[in-house]
Amino acid sequence: MSRLVVNGKTHDIDADPNTPLLWVLREQIGLTGTKYGCGIAQCGACTVHMDGTAVRSCSLPVSEAEGKQITTIEGLAQNGVLHPVQKAWLEHDVPQCGYCQTGMIMAVAALLTEKPKPSDADIGNTITNICRCGTFQQVRAAIHAATNA
Ligand code: FES
Ligand code: FES
Repeated sequence: MSRLVVNGKTHDIDADPNTPLLWVLREQIGLTGTKYGCGIAQCGACTVHMDGTAVRSCSLPVSEAEGKQITTIEGLAQNGVLHPVQKAWLEHDVPQCGYCQTGMIMAVAALLTEKPKPSDADIGNTITNICRCGTFQQVRAAIHAATNA
């Protein structure tokens, strides 16, 4: 049994300790906003926050998430107010198919917590999420817009 705190709510989970956090979030807790892409920590589609840091949940054993604050895309808005990154995404029409975008948004939100005014180099080094639709220019523009909000 694992006890997880996700988006401020506590969940007691019956899962093998090595189960990837992604599957617990999606299949046991029912938070399907976090996506499965590669399953090997390469694409970033599964990105969530653990104690405010971006982690790739497809490759994180659920046992490592115990006692930490996990935030998923469903918990990013606060009291009905979108996160500045979500607002910038809407204003810049960033998503195409959208599949990668929850992971992208979570990665960017964590970056802006760490570096409120990231340079293009910071963005390039940190936001390594893969987008098959090629939204990278819009992502970069929206990040800069979010920092000026
Ligand atoms: S699904 Fe986790 S990094 Fe691709
Ligand atoms: S918006 Fe389609 S994969 Fe990124």
